[in-house]
Amino acid sequence: MSPVRMLIDCDPGVDDAIALLTAAHVADLVGITTVNGNVGIDHTTRNALAVTELAGLDIPVHRGASRPLVNDPIDASRIHGATGLGSVTIPEPTRGIASDDAVAFILDTARSVDDLRVVAIGPLTNIALALDADPSLPDRLGGLTIMGGAAVGGNVTATAEFNIWADPEAADVVFRLGGPLTMVGLDVTHQVLLGARECRRLRAAGTPTSVLAADLLDYAVERSREMKGWDGAPIHDACAVLAVTHPELFGGARRPVALELTGTHTRGMTVVDERGGEPDDSHVTVLRSVDSRSVVRHIVDAVIAVGSN
Ligand code: RIB
Ligand code: CA
Repeated sequence: MSPVRMLIDCDPGVDDAIALLTAAHVADLVGITTVNGNVGIDHTTRNALAVTELAGLDIPVHRGASRPLVNDPIDASRIHGATGLGSVTIPEPTRGIASDDAVAFILDTARSVDDLRVVAIGPLTNIALALDADPSLPDRLGGLTIMGGAAVGGNVTATAEFNIWADPEAADVVFRLGGPLTMVGLDVTHQVLLGARECRRLRAAGTPTSVLAADLLDYAVERSREMKGWDGAPIHDACAVLAVTHPELFGGARRPVALELTGTHTRGMTVVDERGGEPDDSHVTVLRSVDSRSVVRHIVDAVIAVGSN
């Protein structure tokens, strides 16, 4: 079976970087668009270029939105470090961006690539702008999958997950107008922790790519231990990639999901209505269960494989 044709919209970002490397092996990654999120757009774009170049991946990178639709620009540098790649240094990329118009690339690729799967693993600003520019976009996609939100809880506030919290207005547009959408939220990603064992496997593989991933993971595990007391780090974004290529490893159900935009304590919350079973008119599939061991293994195997090419 031919690999899934995938476009990733991202804000690298430690886990975004691992997701890009994973996707390069498990999918046909046709392009990357960047967005302001974990760190500013200059850093997220540079990181996407640098990580793919180090891995020997000639995948076009298109620069996207430098700020949310309404919010002032925010970042998660306390989690991902000032550069977005933690304490990891990586050679400056020698190639440049393919364009500074992520929206045009998303729309053009949806028109030219059959069954394109868009996987958004940062704030949803670019996706919302693309839907605003062409509301018929969902008709041309094989699917839209996002890492974001949560049926229960949050990580930036008690009720909001970072990608949604960073640009709630964009998330509202995408959840209302984005067509069939799979939501890979914290309910799933907090079950997928990579730790010291995975770091050892990656480092033992000994390629520049696997050692980079080991360094990124070491940083993430340390931050996770410091902040949550966990022995592993949730590699959120790679879960969204595998939810597309290995859907059998995940479980969920269609649910009405509303975006809270005005709550004092709940702005950025994905309000998942669990009351009424699977309504026919809900286009959002909320994933809740995952075969964590298999997903962890697939992530590490993919990064080792892509580094060995
Ligand atoms: O809440 C986790 C999400 O926020 C991930 O996409 C991570 O990269 C950060 O952007
Ligand atoms: Ca991200």
